[in-house]
Amino acid sequence: MNKTSCDSSTWSGRFSEPVDKLVQNFTASVNFDYRLASFDIEASLAHARMLCAQDIISAHDLEDIERGMNEISQEISEGRFEWKIALEDVHLNIERRLTELVGDAGKRLHTGRSRNDQVATDIRLYLRDATDQISILLTRLQEALLEKAQNHTHTIMPGFTHLQVAQPVSFAHHLMAYFEMLNRDDERLTECRKRINRLPLGAAALAGSGYPINREMVAQSLGFEGLCSNSLDAVSDRDFAIEFTAAAALIMMHLSRLSEEIILWMNPQFGFIDLSDRFCTGSSIMPQKKNPDVPELVRGKSGRVYGHLMSLLTLMKSQPLAYNKDNQEDKEPLFDTVDTLVATLTLYSSLIQGIEVKPQRMHQALKQGFATATDLADYLVIKGIPFRDAHESVARAVREAERLDCDLADLDIHILKTFHESIEPDVYQVLTPEGSIATRTLPGGTAPETVKNAIKIAKEHLLKRQGK
Ligand code: ARG
Repeated sequence: MNKTSCDSSTWSGRFSEPVDKLVQNFTASVNFDYRLASFDIEASLAHARMLCAQDIISAHDLEDIERGMNEISQEISEGRFEWKIALEDVHLNIERRLTELVGDAGKRLHTGRSRNDQVATDIRLYLRDATDQISILLTRLQEALLEKAQNHTHTIMPGFTHLQVAQPVSFAHHLMAYFEMLNRDDERLTECRKRINRLPLGAAALAGSGYPINREMVAQSLGFEGLCSNSLDAVSDRDFAIEFTAAAALIMMHLSRLSEEIILWMNPQFGFIDLSDRFCTGSSIMPQKKNPDVPELVRGKSGRVYGHLMSLLTLMKSQPLAYNKDNQEDKEPLFDTVDTLVATLTLYSSLIQGIEVKPQRMHQALKQGFATATDLADYLVIKGIPFRDAHESVARAVREAERLDCDLADLDIHILKTFHESIEPDVYQVLTPEGSIATRTLPGGTAPETVKNAIKIAKEHLLKRQGK
């Protein structure tokens, strides 16, 4: 926001003394809700056109309002608009300026509406826009994951449970797990958008309007899918904002998990990946350092979005119907949630593109962790050994390999046979990571062909989502 000033008079004849300056500053929201300006103007124009169509204001008034709003839009975009704290919020600032510019027509604009249904409409328009932008950014990030995954269906890394080496998986398969999470995130946003996209205008202060206004016409011109059905609910409902923030918190949680893995993977002890220098920073004291600041910050920023979700839930929990000034506190958490998400998602696609994979280090980690031990047990089961017995034989083999400081695949066939006489030389096929992943061909498995198919389906899904 550029200019704000405090030099305006009391705003209502109802009051016998001016509002205390401290109260004025405390209650004003224009310092942050100025961001709703373009949506406020859009909604006001839709309202004015409806008022004219219903013969509540004249065509001449409408022309004046349109001309005035045009001028105001320009003043705002060129940074010439003077925001006034004394005019409390974005709505009153714009309305007052309109009246300065066009006179009585400006004063007629507020017929049949209240700031209560006005602000609810503005936030919905803002959030619908933000949701669409975030959906696009999610798609970009999913494309980046697919692009990276495509080249790594044969790159084998250890899959972990309890952060201990568990079984081999392909790097592509691992990335595709995040693709799935983001897919659910997008579904959530799409669902949430439906509930955002309802029109509160017409509820007026809380009881509805006595003027012959046409709510459907306003809804249609603003692209809303329907009306808020109850005037009390229309002005006081913020479920859609909470739902959005919950969806945002889940997105941040997913990105925080991926960030945590990226941080671990680029630690030299793992050494599974390297990140482009453009995503890292150095240390002012330790010359050897290359720090993963971006994923660390993403992990950290998830906290503020969770916080905003709690703020909004707490904001609403004790409010009696209908509108209460408390609701003004919905904006900052919401704006910051959107800003954090947009900034994070925008950066994250290039972060994924900038990952350089180190297959040898992954391979080394697989060997050290006996990642194919389960495959050896499965091999014995196929030969008719009960799984529990196979499990025990393999456990003893692992202990021996550990003692000799080698991988299971490095054990001589004679040694392996001492753990179970059914082990034959063909065992070495299952003891390799390649052999292990090749068997996981069921839907959802890590076999290269299966993952390639998953990538193909995922690509088609993204094209469909974008209507291509
Ligand atoms: N600035 C207010 C808000 O954000 C607008 C609505 C004010 N309505 C009222 N009756 N004071 O919620």
